[in-house]
Amino acid sequence: MTRKPIIIGVAGGSGSGKTTVANEIYCQFKTQSIVMIEQDAYYKNQDHLPMEERLQTNYDHPLAFDNDLLLEHLKDLKKGEPVNKPVYDYKNHTRSNDVIPVEPRDVIILEGILILEDERLRDMMDIKLFVDTDADIRIIRRMMRDINERGRTIESVIDQYTDVVRPMHMQFIEPTKRYADVIVPEGGQNRVAIDLMVTKIKTVLEEKAIL
Ligand code: C5P
Repeated sequence: MTRKPIIIGVAGGSGSGKTTVANEIYCQFKTQSIVMIEQDAYYKNQDHLPMEERLQTNYDHPLAFDNDLLLEHLKDLKKGEPVNKPVYDYKNHTRSNDVIPVEPRDVIILEGILILEDERLRDMMDIKLFVDTDADIRIIRRMMRDINERGRTIESVIDQYTDVVRPMHMQFIEPTKRYADVIVPEGGQNRVAIDLMVTKIKTVLEEKAIL
């Protein structure tokens, strides 16, 4: 009996609550059967660039991500092979020297702002969610997080949001909603959607085990 892993995509804008949704789903399974892969971990390495240039990078554009590596890792996990997930350093705007060894699991949750933008990634996913949260809530959450956890100032968060995050959201993230199987309003607060997803994942896993 072979059991190929299933990949659940959780997309949505920055501050939408997609990480909360992904974590809520994650917690419903035993750790040996589920693993989380964040697209953020696959931001391109910028070690070769001086800090001034790293600050100019558009981190909300599809080209900011090393989706080739992400895709390779997802394929390896699907084949049952372990991978070394990169670790991203938001304070230095580049990959850190650490990696996190990830073992293959029955369920892979892939979470990130632009995972539905790349057709190759979409094709890997068995279920695609888009967490849909109003822009005012997203900016408030982002401001709190970036100041408390990512070493940013209130001015830098506001400038980045106005100049980059908002226009990129409208150009690249919002349109990917149409690829989603399920649109989840209100993110992590939406218990019904999370419970439905967990039930669905369990059903898919049971079906796969029978094949
Ligand atoms: O966790 P979240 O989905 O919000 O992470 C994505 C966001 O991280 C992007 O909107 C991007 O603007 C931000 N980011 C950043 N600085 C980096 C890398 C990403 O502000 N060096």
